[in-house]
Order: sequence, then structure tokens, then C-alpha cells
Amino acid sequence: MLFVLIRRETAADVEAIHTVTEAAFAGNPGGEAWLVGELRADVGWIPALSLVAEADGAVVGHVVCTRGSVNGAPALGLGPLSVLPSHQRTGVGKALMHTVLGAADALDEPLVVLLGDPKYYSRFGFRLAGEYDITPPVPDWAPYFQVRTLSAYTPALSGGFRYAEPFDRL
Ligand SMILES: CC(C)(COP(=O)(O)OP(=O)(O)OC[C@H]1O[C@@H](n2cnc3c(N)ncnc32)[C@H](O)[C@@H]1OP(=O)(O)O)[C@@H](O)C(=O)NCCC(=O)NCCS
Repeated sequence: MLFVLIRRETAADVEAIHTVTEAAFAGNPGGEAWLVGELRADVGWIPALSLVAEADGAVVGHVVCTRGSVNGAPALGLGPLSVLPSHQRTGVGKALMHTVLGAADALDEPLVVLLGDPKYYSRFGFRLAGEYDITPPVPDWAPYFQVRTLSAYTPALSGGFRYAEPFDRL
């Protein structure tokens, strides 16, 4: 039985998060692992929303939400989400997702956006952003660009989404 704890990242986790992100996105060396480091140094970093999954004392997964905006109003962008290949399909991604969404809701954030496969993320309440009149920075992303509304959401929040600046350099 694998026990997984979800907790906030600490300074001691930075290297392990880099390793996990590189392993999860092995097909894109440098991309997402580099992005996590750039985000951590950016004004959009929110320490309460960078979470690790720990199993047997080792970091096996990571998720982060950073400050973005919808039509200039604060909102969150989720990603990267990474699980070590050896631990994929054991519920680690699910635990990270539920925890970060609960934390964002507790912080009175209105919504979280992400780019990903709707077949996976719909189980966490994500729907295509177009349903909320929220548009991605790149129009071609629309079939993968999704929104999870939280308690503080109101339909007045619509328009173009901007990620934290480091995403523009990915
Ligand atoms: C995507 C990822 C985070 C999921 O984490 P995980 O711990 O493997 O996920 P869970 O164990 O919680 O859930 C597994 C379920 O999700 C499904 N799933 C995972 N990725 C999926 C996808 N792209 N499309 C559809 N279903 C997907 C699996 O089929 C599995 O379903 P099953 O249990 O019915 O077989 C992980 O596979 C990963 O790190 N992948 C590489 C990096 C990546 O693509 N990150 C997300 C994009 S930012």
C-alpha cells in the first residue's frame, strides 16, 4: 500500500521537484522543469499553491498554480503538473489536483485555467473555457484550454486569459 502525503513545497524540495518535472516531461527536456524554476522567481509565484506529493519520504509529484489574469482581473493558471513515471496511474495526480483546487478555493481565488486533455481534467470539474467566455492567449489552444470555477467565481469574469510572464517564454 502506497501512502502519499500532499504538502506545500519547502526550499529542500526544489531539486527534487526539478527532477520529477524533467522525468514526467521527458519528451520535452528543459521545458517544463525550466518553467517551474522561472515561475518560482517570478512575482506570480504563490507559495501556498506549490504542492508536492511525498511517498516514502521522496517527492514523487508536484503541482503549481501561479498568478494569471482574466481581462486584467486576478485568476490562476495551473501547471506544470508532474508525476514521476514510476508512480503514474496510482492516484498521485488526482490527489495533487484535488488538494491544489481546494487550496485555491480556500484562498478565495475565482478560477483556475489549464491547458490539457479534457478527457483527464473533466473529472476535476474543468470545462472548456469557451463555455465561460474565457479565451486562451493563443486561439489554437481552445480545444484544450479549460477552466475550473471556484466559489468566488462570477460570470462577469470573462475575456482573455494571461499566464504569469514566464509562460510566454516557454
Ligand atoms: C498526467 C499526470 C499528471 C497524471 O498523473 P497520475 O498520477 O498518473 O494520474 P492518476 O493516477 O491520478 O490518474 C490516472 C488516470 O488518469 C488517466 N489519464 C492520465 N493522463 C490522461 C490523459 N492525458 N488523457 C486521459 N486520461 C488520462 C489515466 O488513464 C488513469 O485513468 P484510469 O485510472 O482510469 O486508468 C501524469 O501522468 C504525468 O505526470 N504525465 C506527464 C506530464 C503531463 O502530461 N502532465 C500534465 C500536463 S501539464
